[in-house]
Amino acid sequence: MSNDPLLQPYQLKHLTLKNRLMITSHEPAYPEDGMPKDRYRAYHVERARAGVALTMTAGSASVARDSPPVFNNILAWKDEVVGWMKALADECHDHGCAVMIQLTHLGRRTRWDKADWLPVVSPSHEREPSHKAFPKKAEDWDIARIIEDYADAAERMKAAGLDGIELQAYGHLMDQFWSPLTNDLDGDYGGSLDNRLRFTFETLKAIRARCGDDFIVGVRYTGDEELAGGLTREDGLEISRRLKDSGMVDFLNVVKGHIDTDAGLTDLIPVQGMRSAPHLDFAGEIRAATQFPTFHAAKIQDVATARHAIASGKLDMVGMTRAHMADPHIVAKIMRGEEDRIRPCVGANYCLDRIYQGGMALCLHNPATGRELEQPHVATRAETKRRVVIVGAGPAGMEAARVSAERGHEVIVHEAANDPGGQVRLTAQTSRRAEMIQLIQWRFEECKRMAVEFRFNSFADKEIVLAENPDVVIIATGGLPHTEVLAEGGALVVSTWDILSGDAKPGENVLIYDDAGDYAALQAAERIAATGARVEIMTRDRSFAPEVMAMSLTPSMRELQKRDVTFTVTWKLDAVRRDGNSLLAVIGSDYGGVSRERHVDQVVVNHGTRPLDDVYFDLRPESSNLGEVDYEALIAGHPQKMTRNENGNYQLFRIGDAVAARNTHAAVYDALRLCKGL
Ligand SMILES: Cc1cc2nc3c(=O)[nH]c(=O)nc-3n(C[C@H](O)[C@H](O)[C@H](O)COP(=O)(O)O)c2cc1C
Ligand code: SF4
Repeated sequence: MSNDPLLQPYQLKHLTLKNRLMITSHEPAYPEDGMPKDRYRAYHVERARAGVALTMTAGSASVARDSPPVFNNILAWKDEVVGWMKALADECHDHGCAVMIQLTHLGRRTRWDKADWLPVVSPSHEREPSHKAFPKKAEDWDIARIIEDYADAAERMKAAGLDGIELQAYGHLMDQFWSPLTNDLDGDYGGSLDNRLRFTFETLKAIRARCGDDFIVGVRYTGDEELAGGLTREDGLEISRRLKDSGMVDFLNVVKGHIDTDAGLTDLIPVQGMRSAPHLDFAGEIRAATQFPTFHAAKIQDVATARHAIASGKLDMVGMTRAHMADPHIVAKIMRGEEDRIRPCVGANYCLDRIYQGGMALCLHNPATGRELEQPHVATRAETKRRVVIVGAGPAGMEAARVSAERGHEVIVHEAANDPGGQVRLTAQTSRRAEMIQLIQWRFEECKRMAVEFRFNSFADKEIVLAENPDVVIIATGGLPHTEVLAEGGALVVSTWDILSGDAKPGENVLIYDDAGDYAALQAAERIAATGARVEIMTRDRSFAPEVMAMSLTPSMRELQKRDVTFTVTWKLDAVRRDGNSLLAVIGSDYGGVSRERHVDQVVVNHGTRPLDDVYFDLRPESSNLGEVDYEALIAGHPQKMTRNENGNYQLFRIGDAVAARNTHAAVYDALRLCKGL
């Protein structure tokens, strides 16, 4: 047996967890009609099959009608959930993976205009900045009703054959009772700590009465709100002891901080560029103080840190949640001695940000995650070996090369630069976003292992490509910044790429006109402001950086506000003119009737990219499919078989930004779904 601390079993009451790695509760927003159906099950089963010991399903599964989901959570208040959870649990159990679920009442962390339009309820009228609903103050009948709702939901999960549950108590109703900031009830449920914990212990009692002592029940809670007037570290320790001493709780799952604002949420769940494992020591302190089973997750992305968390006795079970989204096969790879092949989570937080934006969790780096029913995490071998020539080694080209090589094809990649990476390489130049380069490095290592041939410094034109005698050509040449958006003065502006690459020296008084709303404008602003320059970001949109979602924005805002960068919304740049030594920016508005002028010394335009597609159009006439993609086949997961030119002897495809400016996820998804059928 291995002596790897991570691979040692852990005994939690009567339940043997086969190793120390768990997936903490996270709602990927995959439910259909509030139920964890086939897609949901496939997502968890993929990870169970690969060896994770415990999967804490859902994330904020709702126990009551007046806790309507804000991002498509499981509706644990419905009886029909039992059948779906049973199917999921049974299949995960078949792979030796324990299954639990997180139950909650969101309290004020939701909205009244969702689902049944019931008023939001909380122990005070204080609204949560993030969701903005003004709650009703809980009455005695609300409290009694919700306690029963928790017990009903727990009973359903026991009936579904789950190994246990955890109750969510950070930012939700349970700890809204705990915190002096969100509880101004009089009487039995407000005031002293005893009273503020009463709701929790009455809920636990009701759950135990229904589910018995054998069912595992844990609490995931904040041990320190890190908010003036909120729960302190001492309160957290006291609550931890009381949870243990109650005899009704089997494990503590510790987090640190608060989630009522985007910035708070980002500190609790750190993203790219933030410290690794920032709350691990704190969780370790709680374990040391309580000597009780302690679980924890927060940016423990790599196996070495996870191993340290267990070996040093800070944790009993270590959560690697986003890490398992990026690579579901972590445990299998550890067991096979292939740790260096784990696809690293780069902390881009596309997964989590998307659910708040109303979408479903998708991984920027792994397009098969959440698409287990259609897309493979490991591509199958093709029946016929083909010669695949790829032009461009950005994310799309690298994914195309990796998947084609996994299929067993002979793969040749031409790249004009002397390194792979494309736009990602530029992004990773901002030190806060340096982790992004792993997205390329991982693919590069995989490709090298599978003997993909790379031809760097090769600006491939039609002749060079055809000289390779390809069966398939994939154009992944990306795009170039497009700045021709002004009525006048296009030649006087620079692009965000010019700033990020260092081709343009930052000015001293700079206007950034952001007409794309993505990260590039913020990164350029950061780079310019760091020189001490005055920077204004202007957009014609109603809000700035609409494509940069909440948590990803947090570290950027911290930098930009520190440097007094200003944001101007609903104004647009119409023209730029030279005026002596400076530039005159002519500013208008989509709303009409106004015009302003401003002197600056540099104008930066961010307006996405235009495809770099010459080689594609040169190769098109001689290809068998004339570049056409059969979308029906692509979506159905079938190979591309279209013939438009009987004389053509190679298939030609275009992917990523070489088609149209999109994002990294779109680029790698284009590549995977095309190449898995080649
Ligand atoms: C898509 C997504 C949804 C999440 N939803 C929940 C949730 O509903 N409840 C919860 O306690 N944590 C939730 N989390 C937080 C995770 O459980 C975990 O604490 C966090 O991702 C940090 O761990 P990691 O760095 O290993 O990913 C969510 C995380 C993700 C990525
Ligand atoms: S989107 Fe980014 S943070 Fe989320 S799992 Fe993928 S790599 Fe990790």
